[in-house]
Amino acid sequence: MKYEWWHEAVVYQIYPRSFMDSNGDGIGDLAGIASKLDYLAGTLGVDAVWISPFYPSPMADFGYDVADYTDVDPMFGTLDDFDTLVEGAHERDLKVIIDWVPNHSSSQHPWFLESRSSRDNPKRDWYVWKDPAPDGSPPNNWISVFSGPAWTFDEHTGQYYLHSFLSEQPDINWRNDKAKAAMLDTLRFWLRRGVDGFRLDACHFSMKDPLYRSNPVLDTPRHGYKNLGEYDSLEHIHDRGHPDIHGLFREVRAVLDGFSAGQPRFSVGEIHLEGEEWARYYGNGDELHMPYYFGMLHGDWTASWAREVVETQERVLPPGAWPNHVLGNHDETRIATRYGERRARLATLMLLTLRGTPTIYYGDELGMVQADIPPDRQQDPWGRRQPGLGRDGCRTPMQWTTGEHAGFTTGQPWLETVDPGGALNVQAQLGDPDSMLSLTRRLIEVRKGSNALRTGSYDAIEGLPETVFAYRRGAGGETVCVYLNFGDEPVRVPAEGTLLAATRSGASGPVDGVLALDSLDGAVLGT
Ligand code: NOJ
Ligand code: CA
Repeated sequence: MKYEWWHEAVVYQIYPRSFMDSNGDGIGDLAGIASKLDYLAGTLGVDAVWISPFYPSPMADFGYDVADYTDVDPMFGTLDDFDTLVEGAHERDLKVIIDWVPNHSSSQHPWFLESRSSRDNPKRDWYVWKDPAPDGSPPNNWISVFSGPAWTFDEHTGQYYLHSFLSEQPDINWRNDKAKAAMLDTLRFWLRRGVDGFRLDACHFSMKDPLYRSNPVLDTPRHGYKNLGEYDSLEHIHDRGHPDIHGLFREVRAVLDGFSAGQPRFSVGEIHLEGEEWARYYGNGDELHMPYYFGMLHGDWTASWAREVVETQERVLPPGAWPNHVLGNHDETRIATRYGERRARLATLMLLTLRGTPTIYYGDELGMVQADIPPDRQQDPWGRRQPGLGRDGCRTPMQWTTGEHAGFTTGQPWLETVDPGGALNVQAQLGDPDSMLSLTRRLIEVRKGSNALRTGSYDAIEGLPETVFAYRRGAGGETVCVYLNFGDEPVRVPAEGTLLAATRSGASGPVDGVLALDSLDGAVLGT
């Protein structure tokens, strides 16, 4: 197997609103990110950044409502700032992955403005327009992920348009060849500008039932790991993931491959599906390079759960496909709050020693916690609409220093920082060998220096106490063994080797026969 950069990379997700503000307006921007490249590529040592959307946008969904796919919102800077960022990143051998939002644009995108202007506008069919049902109600029973009908009536032209998310995010009609060509061209625009890859937002939504049939109504709602209210009362067989999606992804892949000579380009899809259905998005190595695997996001936090999550992915992977793991992102409760601080350390050790590309969410390397934002200060439209589902709490500004607003801005931050005066910041944690930052840096360093961890095989180590999940990674003659104690009690396990990293910073040196692990401790041994 030939390994490309994205097989071996540690990816780091940046929410640009919240990473670093360069001009004191309280909102992060591209120049802010550029000013932190030494932190990313040097101090932390990640290999790639995925930057959430920075396109011109009315910000109804903080940039996931794109009004122009080939520009930068003035709030985040300019195309020149983007070029400078890419250049600075590449000088440091850091890859740049950007978000691409294929399922929907903003309702303010010129394409949609044209589309809604009249029934015979040439771009009418670039979006999904349908007549009302005979009683005037929406064309079918589809529900928006963000609650309420997935259809909004347009008085002016007397038809409904489809939006799988907010009404400000009309779904693009990927069955229209001109719309498709225009969208694929936006990929080329950024590929020419040097991006190394794309994260495809909500991308399995892009192809629906061509007959727009209603979804079956479930007798009992089926909730995923989040309770999405009425959305969960339908079986989503018609409103997303139509098999034609695979043809579309092959076209996307062909565009990327066309730019990959000398600079391999990469795609990762946000696809909240499971098992074989999820794995289908690899195609025969001709669709997405990988769909994100979200198994680690939720669970009962036992050793058997963790093993099952890992091995389920391994089991369903098509031949030659590459796994990946994620502990957090801009839609999920911060891991340090979801699982607790000690468990977050153990989870990070697991993330960075498993087979497959790991993605770290900004701030998780500090153990940043979920902010508790009172309902009247919630900014996320989803949270305003459905209390409890708001995502502001995991989007607070990155914490750089012990100073005011954690060094994120010289102005008033768009959301308050968490833990003022505490240790959840880079400055406080850099010199502290026990900090989450030191642990994360060490694990990245160990992964970088180890073929076994980056590309080696995975085998569970059997015969250990049931609270322990342990695995062996091997490549060439090198073997690395990882032991994770998920239990509340200390354990002693048979092991030999040299400690390369551990959740407990003091742990080092040879292990000769027995490894003692406290509750929620993990260790990485080179043998
Ligand atoms: C998934 C993104 O991760 C989320 O933040 C966004 O709100 C929806 N897609 C809609 O684009
Ligand atoms: Ca700014």
